[in-house]
Amino acid sequence: MGGDLLRDGKIGIAVIGCGHWGPNHIRVFRSFPEAEVLWAIDIDESRRQRIRALFPGLPTEKDPRVVWADPAVDAVVVATPTKSHFELVKASLQAGKHVLCEKPLCTAKGEGLQLAELAAAKGLLLMVGHVFLFNPGILKVKELVDAGELGQLQYVSATRTNLGPIRSDVNAAFDLATHDVSIFNFLLGAKPELVSATGASFLQPGVEDVVFVSLRYPGGTWANIRASWLDPKKVRQITVVGTRKMVTWDDLDLTSPVAVYDKGANAVPEYADYGEFLRVTMWDGDVLLPKIQMQEPLKNQNQYFLECLQRGRVEKSGPDFSVEVVEVLEAIEESLRKDGAPVRLT
Ligand SMILES: NC(=O)c1ccc[n+]([C@@H]2O[C@H](COP(=O)([O-])OP(=O)(O)OC[C@H]3O[C@@H](n4cnc5c(N)ncnc54)[C@H](O)[C@@H]3O)[C@@H](O)[C@H]2O)c1
Repeated sequence: MGGDLLRDGKIGIAVIGCGHWGPNHIRVFRSFPEAEVLWAIDIDESRRQRIRALFPGLPTEKDPRVVWADPAVDAVVVATPTKSHFELVKASLQAGKHVLCEKPLCTAKGEGLQLAELAAAKGLLLMVGHVFLFNPGILKVKELVDAGELGQLQYVSATRTNLGPIRSDVNAAFDLATHDVSIFNFLLGAKPELVSATGASFLQPGVEDVVFVSLRYPGGTWANIRASWLDPKKVRQITVVGTRKMVTWDDLDLTSPVAVYDKGANAVPEYADYGEFLRVTMWDGDVLLPKIQMQEPLKNQNQYFLECLQRGRVEKSGPDFSVEVVEVLEAIEESLRKDGAPVRLT
């Protein structure tokens, strides 16, 4: 694959699903000179009306078949509710379109593998909008982890809460914890080997509003996620604890989202006349606030997607990574149904 993936001229984009998030894709793609947004699709007329008001002149349609039939469309953005992703991504690939699908790719690993195979068979790119992989703060944390600055990672912990938006097609794990699973898999360069999750449905039967997830990664690093859309406070935070240093990330801190703490503790066995005991030492040094250039993560992500189309391959947030995220979400779902019983990933 290469530049011949695309027609000459601008990269034609269509956005399917123009609710809360889809219009952000339209705005961002319209800001790139190499792209042209050709269609905005939504089954809901009030959403189409809003798009026409926001982006005068942009053609809107109810039926996605106009997009699949339009040879000027190179790539489709799927920004509909999660449960509809599989069918819409499949149909878009079958129509010969590259796809950028919103997170998560789908709700079952088997479906994800089908989509990955279809994209590969057709020579088309499939990328998923795991937008935190393009967040400058998370990229700084990844840089620190990869450089060994934090030592061996002991555990990572995430809190992702707010009041709403409340979904009905998927629970808080598929909607919110998806982000943290993608961040953890990215930071640790692996998927977990063990998952356990509990949660509760207060608003809609069978749809968890809050989930508490524990994950064990290869090498013994533990991870924990609390995700809820039934919470008074918007929080997007991660803590990474290593044997050398600790790091916090706060997405809502616009000036210093990442803080690196030269803090820690270790325990060394000591031997004395009267036996063996553990000497625990702690240190509490400087806190560094690395300078982070703030950029809109969605803009970074979509720019990367365009570059992938031009290069003819996707390396970040592609099918393998995205199917692994779905696999973890499925394991979370299974554990939820079994009252928190541990589920092993193969
Ligand atoms: N990356 C992020 O930070 C982020 C943020 C918000 C949402 N999302 C993802 O974006 C997707 C959409 O979320 P949202 O908040 O915009 O939801 P939403 O419910 O506000 O909007 C979805 C829209 O899709 C339309 N739709 C549903 N089925 C359709 C179909 N078959 N064809 C055409 N249109 C259809 C609906 O009418 C609605 O307008 C979800 O997968 C969600 O997880 C990602």
